Amino acid sequence: MTLTHIQQVTDGVLVNAITNRVSSYAKDASGAGHVYVETAGGNYSRWRTPSRNLISTILGVHSPTLSGSTQLDAYRPLFLPTILIGDSRLGGISSTISTYESLLLRGYIVDAVLLFREDYYQNWEYLASYFAEKDVPVTAIPPPPTRLPSPQEDIVSLEKYYKNISESESSGLSQVIAQLTERHEYRLDELDSMPARTHTRIWWPFVQHSSTHPNPESITVIASAHKDYFSVYNNNRARGSEDTESLLGYKFDGSASWWTQTLGHSNPILTLAAARAAGRYGHVLFPQSTHLPALNLAETLLAGPGKGWASRVFYTDNGSTGMEVALKMALRAYTKKYPVDGDAGDRAKKLGVLGLKGSYHGDTIGVMNACDAGDGVYTCEWHESKGFWFDPPSLTLQQGQIVITLPSSLQDLASRCGVNEKDLTWIGTRDSLSAAYGVDKRLDTALAQVYKEFIERSLDNIRTEIAALVLEPLVMGAGGMVFVDPLFQRVLVDVVRSRPPPVKPSAEGRWSGIPVIFDEVFVGTYRMGLQTTSTVLGVHPDISVYAKMLSGGLVPLATTLAREEIFEAFVGERKDQALLHGHSYTAYPVACEVANETLRQISKLTESEDWMNARRKWTGEAPADDLAAGAVRVWSFWDPEFVDGLSKLKSVKGVMTLGCVLAIKIDDGGRGEVADFYTSLAQSSRFRLTKDIGLVPLKRS
Ligand SMILES: Cc1ncc(COP(=O)(O)O)c(C=O)c1O
Repeated sequence: MTLTHIQQVTDGVLVNAITNRVSSYAKDASGAGHVYVETAGGNYSRWRTPSRNLISTILGVHSPTLSGSTQLDAYRPLFLPTILIGDSRLGGISSTISTYESLLLRGYIVDAVLLFREDYYQNWEYLASYFAEKDVPVTAIPPPPTRLPSPQEDIVSLEKYYKNISESESSGLSQVIAQLTERHEYRLDELDSMPARTHTRIWWPFVQHSSTHPNPESITVIASAHKDYFSVYNNNRARGSEDTESLLGYKFDGSASWWTQTLGHSNPILTLAAARAAGRYGHVLFPQSTHLPALNLAETLLAGPGKGWASRVFYTDNGSTGMEVALKMALRAYTKKYPVDGDAGDRAKKLGVLGLKGSYHGDTIGVMNACDAGDGVYTCEWHESKGFWFDPPSLTLQQGQIVITLPSSLQDLASRCGVNEKDLTWIGTRDSLSAAYGVDKRLDTALAQVYKEFIERSLDNIRTEIAALVLEPLVMGAGGMVFVDPLFQRVLVDVVRSRPPPVKPSAEGRWSGIPVIFDEVFVGTYRMGLQTTSTVLGVHPDISVYAKMLSGGLVPLATTLAREEIFEAFVGERKDQALLHGHSYTAYPVACEVANETLRQISKLTESEDWMNARRKWTGEAPADDLAAGAVRVWSFWDPEFVDGLSKLKSVKGVMTLGCVLAIKIDDGGRGEVADFYTSLAQSSRFRLTKDIGLVPLKRS
């Protein structure tokens, strides 16, 4: 084998080869059998895998594979149960326990510990009681015979040894096999029973639990998750049937688990980050105290997306609560800045926000009230939309050109002001992306004037007192992946900041007009290929919120960043003037540490060749120079040719992409012929669609 051949043995190749081999064993097998990963807690030169149904890690669990990754990481997609071969020598207790912990950190299930019966150190005695607490049986088997000088004689002696230990009752091996069978059966019973148990016990979000839908058979049983895939239980397959297909299959996590995944499921770097913070702190209360994970994360965010405007970071648990806090901050800052005499309480209760139709900020009541009632998705009795929402113009790539679709409310004004088709279209997939997002250059166009006039006129007619502008910058995700014309959002921010104040301001802060909140829960932390969307819009918010990808899809966390002037609105003599909002798990050290690690990993990725190449394909320049010069160039992880091709497909109404997001609007002519689209997509592209894509409906659709 040449070096090139060795380098080609990726983990994928290895895992596929093992899968094929195991499948062929299963086909040949006369009865039930086991396939286990056998991992060594120490270096066993005399240990031979006694069965072909064992995948031996050889040497230690962290010994590298040919790709360079550790064996534990390489075999993880197989999600096979494990027999840990303990170490009976001096130091063996430690290496066995360390191996066990490494296995657990990667999600392996350890079904048994085997080790040699070594009478001097008697490691098995200690390990038996250690593992008894973990409900893992430990079996000590007689050690192998001393190696003989002649290889032939050595083989004969080992064969005899294996025969003895496998046949003799006293060796304990038959008991181990029985235990493995029992555990295997238990696992299958558990997987089999999960849908029915779930059906009567779980109350899912966003699911109608009527008598017909969903039924237990339709429930996806996720046995584990790795990188971009779920390992799902095939519960339709009869147990004990002649069918030799695996009981577990892969399903692509098409929604990245509600857009939380950053570096893939069960990422060992993030798992270790969680473990080190859990080991050091667990959870600790936060008010008037501090810890490194929270402090470091705050400083990283202030030097990153908060650079140049934010000075404070407030922690909560998820996007909805991060946005609740943002609203509380904005409302207080507004009322402090624009005080009125008289019934301030009544006035404050009626304050509203400005936003865009179709926006989404979460499911807690406060943020629901900051959204347009829209298509009736908000059915909560206390829900009361408070404010005004603009129908926004949106961008789509159609037939290789970006087209702005104006809402009907804007069309008349636009044509009266001479805006024509040319002003609403850019030709060429690559070039049009840069042109459409070159917001600064578009500010003196006729369309910008139309937007300004339209916004001002609308604001003049609003009766509700507006206390904040709340935007999902660039893309409204849950509202249907709407790519809002960034020029509209920019003009909206400029207008609300430059309008005459409703009453005389109490003090001039660096924020003018009303506070602007950017909800970057979906678009933030590089989902759009950029650290923050502010750079594209060319304006900073006064408050912004990050969640989802921030903590790598491992633990929940949200942060709300604010300008110092917003913070100061809560500074006073009395406690009730402070921001009285806190969650039990505020600044949860485990989540903060995972977020720190996630951001560190993303930062490394941004400097990687792959990242630069993807950028280069869209921007056409040396991305490093471009970045150094501080230029903002939008781009996509999706290949421009692929996106261009997609936009020209018969059954595609429109496409749009930025960063990781690729939105495709399918035109099925109202006939439900989505399958045709998948076929043409699969034929036309270099991308393969997996049979099972785990897509979930968007929250609001
Ligand atoms: C833009 C935006 N804001 C807020 C939220 C709410 O976040 P969470 O589901 O973490 O509460 C979401 C969730 O999809 C979102 O997309």
